[in-house]
Amino acid sequence: MKTIIEPFKIKSVEKINFTTKEQREVILREAFFNPFLIKADDVIIDLLTDSGTSAMSSLQWAGIMDGDESYAGSKSYYRFKDTVKNIFGFDYVIPVHQGRAAERILFSILLEDHTKKKCIINNNHFDTTRANIEFNSGDALDLNIEEGKHPSLIHPFKGNIDLQKLESKINEIGAENIPLVMLTITDNTNGGQPVSMENIRETKKICVKYHLPFFLDACRFAENAYFIQQREAGYKDKTIPEIVAEMFSYADGCTMSAKKDAFANIGGFLAMNDKALYEKCKNLLIITEGFETYGGLAGRDLEAIAQGLKEIMDEDYLHYRIRSVEYIGEKLDKNNIPFIKPTGGHALYLDAKEFLPHISPEQYPGQALVCALYREGGIRAVEIGSVMFGKYDANGKLIPADMELVRMAFPRRVYTQSHFDYVAEVLIEISKDKNSLKGLKIIEEPEFLRHFTAKFEEN
Ligand code: F0G
Repeated sequence: MKTIIEPFKIKSVEKINFTTKEQREVILREAFFNPFLIKADDVIIDLLTDSGTSAMSSLQWAGIMDGDESYAGSKSYYRFKDTVKNIFGFDYVIPVHQGRAAERILFSILLEDHTKKKCIINNNHFDTTRANIEFNSGDALDLNIEEGKHPSLIHPFKGNIDLQKLESKINEIGAENIPLVMLTITDNTNGGQPVSMENIRETKKICVKYHLPFFLDACRFAENAYFIQQREAGYKDKTIPEIVAEMFSYADGCTMSAKKDAFANIGGFLAMNDKALYEKCKNLLIITEGFETYGGLAGRDLEAIAQGLKEIMDEDYLHYRIRSVEYIGEKLDKNNIPFIKPTGGHALYLDAKEFLPHISPEQYPGQALVCALYREGGIRAVEIGSVMFGKYDANGKLIPADMELVRMAFPRRVYTQSHFDYVAEVLIEISKDKNSLKGLKIIEEPEFLRHFTAKFEEN
């Protein structure tokens, strides 16, 4: 059978509110052309993020009822910790309320000495990772392979780090100024693209050579493992848990947002093998997040995460997941709508630079496309381009991002094939009159993570 059916039955549903194009025009203006400022009730298909938006399974809900809310030593914590240890192999596990809390704890410790500039190297830092490094006065350096920077270049592992550049940068900066090397799996910033096992292994070798700790940003670890199974020689007969175990055997620790590949609505963890580092992280956790056996979460959240971590490695699920994104990609491709190829794990990334050549980076083509998606079909997506990553030079001139992308991220187990058909249809409609789309200018913005709250005006 060619048709891939959703590998679940639906037991509970949530109503979608439909709006008219006229209503959406008013809503968009009132939200200053920023989808983060639109009420979720006014969205028909919400592809803003795959984070915290998953549909939980009946077993996860059962776990929620079984949550132990003891302040210390809750049995839900032990279930959670044992599950993380079994899957990822790390000795020390700290629950946190979400991924960026793990980043904040880790980087405030690794970058606590502000007397010398320190640098964290990654394939591509996610925006909160970068912000937590910069907030702690560090530099965040991205060394993604060249293929990863070109939407139309095909490579099976576009998330790979450039190993030669990694080694030469370590020599240039000095290992003593690099407290950590990371790989983000999958690489969210440039297309949800995977990192190969070989690249993880070789990164580890370089880190060993220079005595550098090596962590994985594990948010979408199962999707990455599935790509390795499908695309990398030698892994086709391995199970997902076996692949995951190997991936993490090379790492000294990880940060994790359980809002992604754990089907949880909230939560995350920081895990590692270094006891001294763990003790420091634990102390900071207790000061700022909560006691070690709950880390800012409820016991029931830990249950949902533990169950979700097992479910996410199911091959039927992963097959449906990756295939759904590919399916929309095929429809867009037939209509010459450009996107990052091959399609990634959790999202499809439209190439707004290529799609809207009449809108310059200074006028934010990605944001223009985000607005068009909402106007035309009530679809909410997010710009990953110069709004998110643009910087200003000393004269206040925009230094644009390398790519102008629009991410349509797919919540897990939430939408079905007809929702995906609708999304493709809306984009095809937009493309028929794309030259009429207008650029935008920013009229208000905060210092960090401006895409969340910036306000725009249409040109
Ligand atoms: N790392 C990566 C690769 C992420 O994608 C995210 C979150 C985080 C870290 C931070 O985790 O949200 O739990 O604090 N990404 C979300 C997204 C927000 O929409 O891609 P968090």
